[in-house]
Amino acid sequence: CQMNISDGELMQGVLASDGYEIVDRPEDADVVLVNTCAIREHAERRVLGRVSQLNGIKLERPDLVIGVTGCMAQRMGESLLEDAPYVDLVMGPDGYRTLPEQLRELVPAADSADAPSGSPGATAPRPSRTSRAGSPARQLAVLGMNREENYEGLEMRRTSDVAAWIPIQRGCDHRCTFCIVPYVRGPEKNRRAEDVLDEVRALGAAGTTEVTLLGQTVNSYSAGEWSFPRLLREVSRLPGIRRVRFTSPHPNDVTPELIAVMAEEPNVCEQLHLPAQSGSNRTLKRMLRRYTVESFLEKVERVREGVPDIALSTDIITGFPGETEEEFEQTLELMRRVRFDDAFTYKYSLREGTPATRFPEGDFIDGEVAQRRLEELIRVSRDIQREINRTEVGRVEEVLVERSAREPGQVMGRTRRNKVIAFAGDASLIGSYHRVELVATTGPTFSGRPAGAADEAPGLQRTA
Ligand code: 5AD
Repeated sequence: CQMNISDGELMQGVLASDGYEIVDRPEDADVVLVNTCAIREHAERRVLGRVSQLNGIKLERPDLVIGVTGCMAQRMGESLLEDAPYVDLVMGPDGYRTLPEQLRELVPAADSADAPSGSPGATAPRPSRTSRAGSPARQLAVLGMNREENYEGLEMRRTSDVAAWIPIQRGCDHRCTFCIVPYVRGPEKNRRAEDVLDEVRALGAAGTTEVTLLGQTVNSYSAGEWSFPRLLREVSRLPGIRRVRFTSPHPNDVTPELIAVMAEEPNVCEQLHLPAQSGSNRTLKRMLRRYTVESFLEKVERVREGVPDIALSTDIITGFPGETEEEFEQTLELMRRVRFDDAFTYKYSLREGTPATRFPEGDFIDGEVAQRRLEELIRVSRDIQREINRTEVGRVEEVLVERSAREPGQVMGRTRRNKVIAFAGDASLIGSYHRVELVATTGPTFSGRPAGAADEAPGLQRTA
């Protein structure tokens, strides 16, 4: 998820501040960290494959340190160290601050003379084992969840200086019955608004013009006198900032105040990700989503009233325990009614420790049935997306160029409505705004033709 990308930037920053150099290939590294997701079993299986591949390098170079970080590390903990004995470190999301000191315990070459001893609460040293090189080695598990860890004061090493991710909240207080996040990231913790504003102000001064505020339920953000709508408004007014997005909101916290800020603030983009999960009230109830199809549709209507032409995206799960064929049809009906610009679709994946595992045995949907529903859902959502995007061909949109496209001589950027578009240009355009005519669509993305430089916005630092 975006939070994981952001965590990767945080880990790189923490390590770079400690003198580590970031290399591109695992073959060149002394330490390889695999940052992981726990949201579905599929993601976890891929990590296990990746980690065993890395062991191929370690067989040649026994000193290589392999670490597994993130939500899957938190979830599997020490059992991961047992199942994959070549893994040296497992570390959950609250441990990143201590990465340098933990690695000093593990990296043979590191100068450990002045190393502070690892924070005892968080570290659980395991019995020594002997590495293939013959030197004593051990495995470390850093799994402490820390309510006090606010990630403040850590340097990020951002992958892009065009558009930046800003975590404003971590963890989650909801208990959606399918979801592992509250158990691996802990309860909701919100950053101080002043710290968020300082961070974005510095980015704006350095030339970054787009920021995305991140949180598991980002719009439930609350810190002292600061609500999410207030923070969003202030962030969007900071010098140099020209586009603000946020993800992922919970539908229940899409309030009239939030819609008003989105409608009134010119720098808040006309785009909203609104996870529906299902179009069946009975399923929504069993998911503990705390809204109904009717109230969700009502939210969509209010949002579209406030911000006409807003692009909406969603998340949907098929095959949730107990979902009947008729309830799945209701989900398709929701898709047809809302007509989302984009949909992220998932087949239900059982996550050990979540409430949904306790539904009666007979409720669990056959994998093939869930797969068939998923494919049908994808077909419906892609058809809608293609129809919508075809109607947008011919428009001229403001595009922020993010990077060179895979195709030579092309660059790739996004419109304010978060549509991806490629057009002719070179790397010198990266970071600048252009007016681009949408010429054709592949379905999900567009190709375009430059239609002149974008109007200069107040506070804009760079333009083409
Ligand atoms: N199985 C399938 N999909 C899931 N998601 C979260 N947990 C599960 C699960 N156990 C999906 C939800 C969420 C998105 C990030 O991942 O749709 O919004």
